[in-house]
Amino acid sequence: MPHLLAVSSYLDRYAKIKARPVCDYCGVHAQIRTQIQTNEDLFNAIFSDIISLQIAQGDEVMNIAVVGTGIIGVRHLQAIEQSKDFTLCAVCDVNVAAAETCAQKYGVPCFTDYKDIPFKTNVEAVILNLPHWLHCEAAIFFLEHGIHVLVEKPMANTKSECERMICASARSGKKLAVGHVQRFFQANRYVKKVVQEKSLGDLCMISEIRTIDYFAPNRPKWFLDKSLSGGGIVMNYGAHVLDKVFYVTDSRPVSIFATGGNIANDATIEGHSQFIMKLDNGTSVSVSFCGYYNSGYETVYYFTGGALKVVNGVNLFSRANAGWNEIPSSQPDNQLLLQLNEFHNMIVGASSEIATADYSADIIAAIEEIYAQSETD
Ligand SMILES: NC(=O)c1ccc[n+]([C@@H]2O[C@H](COP(=O)([O-])OP(=O)(O)OC[C@H]3O[C@@H](n4cnc5c(N)ncnc54)[C@H](O)[C@@H]3O)[C@@H](O)[C@H]2O)c1
Repeated sequence: MPHLLAVSSYLDRYAKIKARPVCDYCGVHAQIRTQIQTNEDLFNAIFSDIISLQIAQGDEVMNIAVVGTGIIGVRHLQAIEQSKDFTLCAVCDVNVAAAETCAQKYGVPCFTDYKDIPFKTNVEAVILNLPHWLHCEAAIFFLEHGIHVLVEKPMANTKSECERMICASARSGKKLAVGHVQRFFQANRYVKKVVQEKSLGDLCMISEIRTIDYFAPNRPKWFLDKSLSGGGIVMNYGAHVLDKVFYVTDSRPVSIFATGGNIANDATIEGHSQFIMKLDNGTSVSVSFCGYYNSGYETVYYFTGGALKVVNGVNLFSRANAGWNEIPSSQPDNQLLLQLNEFHNMIVGASSEIATADYSADIIAAIEEIYAQSETD
């Protein structure tokens, strides 16, 4: 860290420590206060040690705003409430009632135009929970105003939008992460470990069959308009499946065959889709989506020495020869809180497991290919 940046960063953190009389690290903070106030020379001598100590303890409480207080936005607000790394400083939604309800609940200012946030708050990071078509422009706006961005999945509607977002992050030096949460689900972490350790042999195939009533009346209407959502079940749930496959296998597709359509209504998005991918590690993946009714979903991982099955993203089973045996697992953690922890790690330059912008752009590239194939079938 350059010296001047380190000084201003330290002073900023010190001001925050002074503003927080009681916290988990108050013993450390009291020690720092005494050192600084009683001995200026000592301060200079130990300056870099204090910075390292604070970074090591993750002690950089940052002001974060939430833009979009719909279905997932309110869950992010709950995660922020439990976070030691972030303090909520603002909420925003064009739906005034939704924004005001959240603002009152958490005691923070309420906005209906996200462009006011950088000028009227001391925001340092933002979570964007917006309709897909707004991800690119909102992310670029905040990055260009010096604010770190966690944007919900899918990263954007097109590869070119992803590239513009990546450039904005590089230009501003601010971090851009994407809310691909599959890596924070215990079942997926378990499968990844089995793949890496080869405890069931080599992974050869993955198969996912997912049904959901995609056209249910309670789904926000923008999801059903391709010009706003970028697509239907593939854009929305395909983003999760591709994330899971990329994460578990640490591989990317080298070829994709896809077909799909909508035979049930006149929405502009697809209601069903099937795609088969070959990954660069040789694994083949087949995915079948039916968006006309809901009976859950399951993912099966076929190895040379057995198989693993994950039902509805949570319940894990294994088999070698005879029937499936349930593997007891708990789902103790709030995935959005785990993701928030990793967003903080990314911002402070620590090792982070959050989905990067480059990774997430690969998912959009695969979705574009699936749609391109489906249109020509
Ligand atoms: N990670 C997950 O598991 C998960 C789950 C659900 C949704 N998502 C993603 O989160 C995003 C939001 O989805 P949702 O289900 O919460 O949708 P939603 O429609 O419930 O919420 C979107 C909110 O954005 C608000 N909004 C629209 N335009 C705005 C603007 N210009 N400024 C401020 N607010 C605006 C809407 O009023 C609405 O409240 C999508 O990208 C979706 O794919 C992720």
